[in-house]
Amino acid sequence: MRSHYCGSLTALQVDTEVTLCGWVNRRRDLGGLIFLDLRDREGLVQVVCDPDEKALFELAYTLRNEFCIQVKGKVRARPASQVNADMATGEVEVYARELVILSKAAPVPLDSNQNNSEEQRLKYRYLDLRRPVMTERLKFRAKVTSFVRNFMDSHGFLDVETPMLTRATPEGARDYLVPSRTHKGKFFALPQSPQLFKQLLMMSGLDRYYQIVKCFRDEDLRADRQPEFTQIDIETSFMTADQVMAVTEQMIRELFQQQLQVDLGDFPRMTYADAMRLYGSDKPDLRNPMQLVDVADLLKEVEFKVFSGPANDAKGRVVALKVPGKAEAISRKDIDGYTEFVGIYGARGLAWMKVKAVGQGIEGVQSPVAKFLSDDIVNDILSRTEAAAGDILFFGADRYSVVCEAMGALRLKLGEQHGLTEQGWKPLWVVDFPMFEQGDDGQLMAIHHPFTSPVNPDPAALQQAPEQALSNAYDMVLNGTELGGGSVRIHDPVMQATVFRLLGISDDEAAEKFGFLLEALKYGTPPHAGLAFGLDRLVMLMTGASSIRDVMAFPKTTTAACPLTDAPGLANQAQLAELMIELKKE
Ligand code: AMO
Ligand code: AMP
Repeated sequence: MRSHYCGSLTALQVDTEVTLCGWVNRRRDLGGLIFLDLRDREGLVQVVCDPDEKALFELAYTLRNEFCIQVKGKVRARPASQVNADMATGEVEVYARELVILSKAAPVPLDSNQNNSEEQRLKYRYLDLRRPVMTERLKFRAKVTSFVRNFMDSHGFLDVETPMLTRATPEGARDYLVPSRTHKGKFFALPQSPQLFKQLLMMSGLDRYYQIVKCFRDEDLRADRQPEFTQIDIETSFMTADQVMAVTEQMIRELFQQQLQVDLGDFPRMTYADAMRLYGSDKPDLRNPMQLVDVADLLKEVEFKVFSGPANDAKGRVVALKVPGKAEAISRKDIDGYTEFVGIYGARGLAWMKVKAVGQGIEGVQSPVAKFLSDDIVNDILSRTEAAAGDILFFGADRYSVVCEAMGALRLKLGEQHGLTEQGWKPLWVVDFPMFEQGDDGQLMAIHHPFTSPVNPDPAALQQAPEQALSNAYDMVLNGTELGGGSVRIHDPVMQATVFRLLGISDDEAAEKFGFLLEALKYGTPPHAGLAFGLDRLVMLMTGASSIRDVMAFPKTTTAACPLTDAPGLANQAQLAELMIELKKE
């Protein structure tokens, strides 16, 4: 039906007879002529309908936005005065000789000025995706997956599919369950990741695996989290952590080079401890130069309990965050706003100090907490933070985790609001994570998943001091987003059983849930390691989209619903009866 894409026409096609198919983006009636902007996947081109072609002209007059039409005509160069430099096809236009309406369109329920709620955009997603910016993102995503497949194939990785109807894979979220009809009362879980299957494939001797695969996690949604999302999932045998990091880093570097002409360079490595200390986050955005500075040791003796309490508590932390040169720009009202902001993360307040002069103690600063401090302490704080006149310091004093989260988030907000965050790309690896974190009830929880190997492969050593153990895991971070994470896996059944026990999983429970893995580990398991990237996040960053929803064709709302299909929907009585499921009345 078509000879060329609208968006593909250039001066090279002048005088060529073309047949185009597409949608009317806009119709303008000007000086007796009708101009159409005709749009298809590849872009827009101007079509001219001349009253000399009487029937065609009359038909053109009936066209409305989003009618789907076919146009035959000749490409001609536009006069120099009418060249549109903003349009890829702006040097040419198509002089129409035949016009066919393939499909009329009712008035489109989306506002062309883009004043649409996300709910509305998702309800009419097929129309929303007609917008060139959305089409371009999906095209870009396809280029990324194509690149990844080529890279993986050429490095000896085999694409193997793994089941969607399976058992729970613990990645820290709730499972999506699917009731079984043939095994009444039992449920499949949709995979939170293919983690266990890719490990089993290493036990099968597949050696190098990859898959671009859907994962399902029932968790609280955010801009970079969806209930179903896509991983570039990778596993290798006989490769060290360094080797896995090298090949995956190479893939991302080459991807950026090829698709964006950006050289990411070698990715620096940072320990988890440093990331938390300097940035309060395990996924630091290094485009933002501000760092947290610990000051607890200076404040142990002060009478101000807000500071001295956490300063003297092993689980507390007190930090200063310096915003250079912004003492003037940041008003009391702004500070109230920031205080409210850190409150979201559990901080009970936000002390601050504006610097007028250094080395002059309390006299040199303006701060509601200065009166609780001595001249020496103020001087020490200013010298530790390398503060200068005109700077403002914010202080966080609380439990370690609250300070990291609250001040880490404030750092990002200040960086953006005050133009301190640079443009560009800052990748890094975060390494040396602890194996475990402790819940409020004292129970250890895996920081990665329970199949991650500790750096020290001795189960007895792990058993002795689990809180101190570091895991052989690594996260790739780009511009403050966790792009991917992976680890060396446990390949020793004794170590795996030890980790389950430390996680409070009884031997019986381990046998019930992961018996197949423990069994498989007995039969000559190769040392193996891998990583998974979040494809949606990768494409979001590369396209500059602000949410992964904008790079997915049919995403869900923040309440995990689909306004287009109205999923999740009700099941009918017969289906429920077959599944032996009865719904409770609320
Ligand atoms: P992890 O849980 O870190 O590791 O997931 C890997 C990557 O997947 C992306 N991601 C998500 N993207 C969108 N929405 C979500 N809800 C979501 N959750 C995770 C992130 C993350 O870095 N099996 C391990 C990997 C391994 O050890 O090999 C795993 O799934 O970008
Ligand atoms: P208060 O004495 O509670 O009014 O607090 C005095 C100053 O300390 C105010 O500027 C508070 O915002 C600040 N503040 C209170 N709690 C904290 C905290 N946990 N961390 C940092 N600053 C705090």
